[in-house]
Amino acid sequence: MQFSENVARLQPSATLAVSTLAKKLKAEGRDVVDLSAGQPDFDTPEFIAEAGIQGIREGHTRYTPTPGTPALRKAIAATYSQRLGRPVDPSSIVVNSGAKHSLFNAMFSLFGPGDRVLIPVPYWTSYPEMVTLARAEAVPVVGDPARDFHMTPEDLEGAYTPQVKGLLLCTPSNPSGGVYSLDELRAVAEWAKARDIWIIADEIYRLINFKGEGPAPSVLDLPEASRGNVVVVDGASKAFAMTGWRIGHTYSDPALAKKMSDLQSHMTSNPSAPAQQAVLAAYTQWDRSMKEVGKMVEAFKRRRDLATRLFEELLPAFSYVRPDGAFYLYFRVDSLFDERLKDSSAVCTWLLEDAEIAMVPGVAFGDDRYVRMSYATSDELLEEGIRRLAKAVVER
Ligand SMILES: Cc1ncc(COP(=O)(O)O)c(C=O)c1O
Repeated sequence: MQFSENVARLQPSATLAVSTLAKKLKAEGRDVVDLSAGQPDFDTPEFIAEAGIQGIREGHTRYTPTPGTPALRKAIAATYSQRLGRPVDPSSIVVNSGAKHSLFNAMFSLFGPGDRVLIPVPYWTSYPEMVTLARAEAVPVVGDPARDFHMTPEDLEGAYTPQVKGLLLCTPSNPSGGVYSLDELRAVAEWAKARDIWIIADEIYRLINFKGEGPAPSVLDLPEASRGNVVVVDGASKAFAMTGWRIGHTYSDPALAKKMSDLQSHMTSNPSAPAQQAVLAAYTQWDRSMKEVGKMVEAFKRRRDLATRLFEELLPAFSYVRPDGAFYLYFRVDSLFDERLKDSSAVCTWLLEDAEIAMVPGVAFGDDRYVRMSYATSDELLEEGIRRLAKAVVER
């Protein structure tokens, strides 16, 4: 069948493909340890879920304004006011159907034919696809593993051409769990400002940070003089364990927010009305939400420590990025490559079929030497998964 140029190069989401296959094998009765999940294994906090149920009962079941209810935009804007120490107008906020949607709105509104967008490797699998859907060109930029792949101005300058209009920055990172320091962010933001390049700051994992107290550093923590044009993408999915509710948002200049809202008005209209009511409770009862987030972050940190300890003990030859945030361990598998296991996909297929562990091949994140393991699962399953991995590697 002939499809349009718009989707000619489109690839399905590799991360979703692995979890779908793992679910299928499990349904067939196979004892698969699924370490491919891109979502917290916790339930949505009770008071947030209740607010969604209440929302349905109170009749929040119709269209809302496209960029979200005034109450939710105001509540989200208040969190940015707090962070920035100055009033933020709710017109800067657009609420979307998940951060994936927020990212698409931003990329489609800012980039088009002839533009190039720098995407640090390893990247979240959807970034290059979204840039391509906007008919712009995705330019992967490889950083130094010794710096957890964090970009420096020199890395970025090496990929710069006058067509470069944007830079994707994801910290804490999916897939590496790397967290940029404020100094690293300052250097990158000042470079982007000097080059008049938009930063799309994907902060969906900002609250899942193990380095120091509180959230991971953000470009918004920098003085205004150090940053130029920025769109912040965030949402309820990861921090509040709300992936299925599908609520994300952008914070940007109001003119861009208006354009993204106009785009959304022709695509999805407003995000789900009851889900907005649930997320409203999360933002208006911030201290309560932070307590819930704190409990989840504690569990993720404990599992990070467990996973890295087991790697040191059982898989000392495997190098990995030490995760400081999010809930992923990104480790190198090219030492296993041979005639049969030619790449990261072959390694993951072998591990799924023979050792019954599901993980995502690094090719989905732009580096075929790596594999991503998610530790958003119970301590027991995580330990079982890593022990199976070690056994499979030793027995091979
Ligand atoms: C880095 C990153 N950004 C955005 C998203 C999308 O989040 P949402 O589920 O809110 O669309 C994900 C989800 O996996 C992610 O890992």
